[in-house]
Amino acid sequence: MHYISATDVGKTYQSPSGPVPAVAGATFSAAEGEFISLLGPSGCGKSTLLMMLAGLEQPTRGSFHLAGHEVNGPRRETGIIFQDATLLPWKSVLENVMFPIQILKLPEKDYIDRANELLNRVGLSNFTAKRPHELSGGMRQRVAICRALIHDPNILLMDEPFSALDAITRDQMNVVLSELLERYRKTVIFVTHSIREAVYLSDRVLVMGGKPSSIILDLTIPFNRPRQFDIEETAEFGALCRELRLTIERAHHG
Ligand SMILES: Nc1ncnc2c1ncn2[C@@H]1O[C@H](COP(=O)(O)OP(=O)(O)O)[C@@H](O)[C@H]1O
Ligand SMILES: [Mg+2]
Repeated sequence: MHYISATDVGKTYQSPSGPVPAVAGATFSAAEGEFISLLGPSGCGKSTLLMMLAGLEQPTRGSFHLAGHEVNGPRRETGIIFQDATLLPWKSVLENVMFPIQILKLPEKDYIDRANELLNRVGLSNFTAKRPHELSGGMRQRVAICRALIHDPNILLMDEPFSALDAITRDQMNVVLSELLERYRKTVIFVTHSIREAVYLSDRVLVMGGKPSSIILDLTIPFNRPRQFDIEETAEFGALCRELRLTIERAHHG
């Protein structure tokens, strides 16, 4: 069952210096509950593909379908997380998590327990009254994840959410996200340029590359869930990383 499908999707931006082809003819699908990474070097069109899937950019060719409906604008069943947590500085952690409920004009009393439960699951139950400036970068990104999940969207779109964090915090965030998704199963499209992060988190990794850019590899990651972080030390993990790295290198030089 294809929960998400992209059919021959392309995007060419118009700029003052002429057309900029960002994505050309990307075709892929995702089953409900699958975790898919889009992996590739900077500039290969990952964000463009994700923003089209979110309904925030229009494709110049092809189309996306979510649960049988063509995407032609932002949808409520989609939660989005960016590299920067973009929290409201004057609101508390709890108020930031509740903010989408206010925007969507849903009854706050129906969601407050969920907000507290989410914050508890990411280890922030003692920080609910703090302001964003009192938190570390990793903590702020945990709040952003809770905010994206508060209205219980089916689909989570994440654009390099951990790229601004230091390596140790990033590893911790991978574990936090993985555990959170064991509890709240979502269909996830996760953009990253980290090969290890993609392999640890994903059911499938789609590599983007080429000129013009498209999907050049669709690699299944066969590890069972829940996953322990020490799978990163296995030979099988290393072999998957190597295959992805070679594919990216070939696309870059070939
Ligand atoms: N609004 C825009 N106008 C013109 N060109 C753009 C715009 N957004 C992105 N691009 C170009 O499209 C290509 C893909 O960008 P992007 O999707 O941001 O890649 P990535 O997320 O993989 O780094 C790049 O060459 C970038 O310069
Ligand atoms: Mg990007």
